[in-house]
Amino acid sequence: MRTQVLIVGAGPSGLLLGQLLHRAGIDTLILERQSGEHVLTRIRAGVLEPGTAELMDEAGVGARLRAEGLVHDGFALAIDGVRHRIDLRALTGGRSVLVYGQTEVTRDLMSARAEAGLPTLYDAAEVRIADFDTERPHAHCVVNGAAIRIDADFIAGCDGFHGVCRASVPADALRLFEKVYPFGWLGLLSDTPPVSDELIYGRHPRGFTLCSMRSPTRSRYYLQVPLTERVQHWSDDRFWAELRRRLDPEAADRLVTGPSLEKSIAPLRSFVAEPMRFGRLFLAGDAAHIVPPTGAKGLNLAASDVRYLSQALIEHYRERSQAGIDHYSSRCLSRVWKAERFSWWLTSLLHNVDQEPAFQARLQQAELDYVLGSEAALRVLAENYVGLPV
Ligand code: APR
Ligand code: PHB
Repeated sequence: MRTQVLIVGAGPSGLLLGQLLHRAGIDTLILERQSGEHVLTRIRAGVLEPGTAELMDEAGVGARLRAEGLVHDGFALAIDGVRHRIDLRALTGGRSVLVYGQTEVTRDLMSARAEAGLPTLYDAAEVRIADFDTERPHAHCVVNGAAIRIDADFIAGCDGFHGVCRASVPADALRLFEKVYPFGWLGLLSDTPPVSDELIYGRHPRGFTLCSMRSPTRSRYYLQVPLTERVQHWSDDRFWAELRRRLDPEAADRLVTGPSLEKSIAPLRSFVAEPMRFGRLFLAGDAAHIVPPTGAKGLNLAASDVRYLSQALIEHYRERSQAGIDHYSSRCLSRVWKAERFSWWLTSLLHNVDQEPAFQARLQQAELDYVLGSEAALRVLAENYVGLPV
C-alpha cells in the first residue's frame, strides 16, 4: 500500500491531522492499534481553548461542539473553603473556553473520517516504522492476520505516550525531560448535575479536588490521591464522602451524588521529548509530550502541534517548500514548554504538598495570596488558561 502521509494513532492528534490534510487534498492512511470502540472508551479532559475549537472548525468538524459545547467565561479557585472566581472573559479581553469532552472530539473526527471514506486500519498489530531518516519511509503491521507494508512520503507519530514512533528513534538522537509527581488523580464520571455552573479547582489540606462537567446532566470529579491508592478501594460512597469533605460549604450542600459511570486513577507526569522531527518522521501530541491534567492543556497542545504539522505538510505539497518542515520542532516546542510551565505551576499551586519541606508549603501559600490579590497575576493565569497565541 502507498499513501502520502502515514499517520500512526487514531487519537485526537492523528484524526485531526488526517482531517486537515484531507481538506487540502493530501492522502493519509491511519494505523491504529486498538479498535475504534476502544479508542472511544477513554475518558480524558474536556476543556477546549478557543484556538482548538477554531481548528476543529477549519477541519470541518466544529458543528457539534459549537452546538453542544458549554461556553465558560470563568472558573473558580476554591482555597481552603473560600471560592474566588477567575473571570476569564474580563481578564483576557473577551476570551472564554469551551467545555466539550475529548471523547466527543474524537467521535466527531472519527465520523467525519468515515463519512469521507478515508482509510483507517484499526486493530493493527505489530506496527513498526522504518527508514524515516531516508526519502522512503515505510511501516509494517499485521491486520486480520495479514502482513502489510505501507510506503509513504512522511510518517506522523500520533501514537501517544506509549506508542511505537518515539520508541523507534535512536536513543542518542532524543533528549527526554521528565517530572513525575508524588500523587495521582482519582476521577469519577456520573450522570448527575454539576455542583456548579463553572469548574471549581480546589486546594484543601486533605488534597486537591476538581469539579468539572461534560454537560448540564453529566459531572466529572477528581480527587488528589497518593500514588499508592488503588481504585478498588474507592467505593462510590467513599468517593462522594471524601469529595464533600474537601468542598466549600455551599458546594458540599449542593452536591448531587449518584452511581459512577467510570472511575480510574491517573498518575501525573510532565514529559517532553526533543526534537519532535527526525527526517521524515514527525511526533505530535502525547507521543512527544505529557502535561499533568491541571489546566487541561493536553488536548490543546496536541491540537497546536497538529496545526503546525498540517501547515508544514500543506506548504510542502503546494509549494515544494521545506521551511515549515524544518521549523516544525522548534515552533511546537516553544509553545509546548510554555504549557508545560503553566501545567506544572497550576499543579504545584493547588496540590497538597505535605510530603515536601515546610518551606515549599509556605511558598505555595504566599503564591496563592499573591495571585488572588494581584490583577497582573490573575491576567497571567487567565491568558494561559484560555491558551497562548499560536
Ligand atoms: N500502533 C498504532 N497505534 C498506536 C500504537 C501503535 N504501536 N500505540 C498507540 N497507538 C494509538 C493508541 O491506541 C491511541 O489511540 O495511538 C493513539 C494515541 O492517542 P492519544 O493517546 O489520545 O494521544 P493524542 O492523539 O496525541 O492525544 C492527545 O490525549 O492523552 C490525551 O492529554 C492528552 O488530551 C491529550 C490527547
Ligand atoms: C475534565 O473535565 O476532565 C477536566 C477539566 C479540567 C481540567 C482537567 C480535567 O483541568
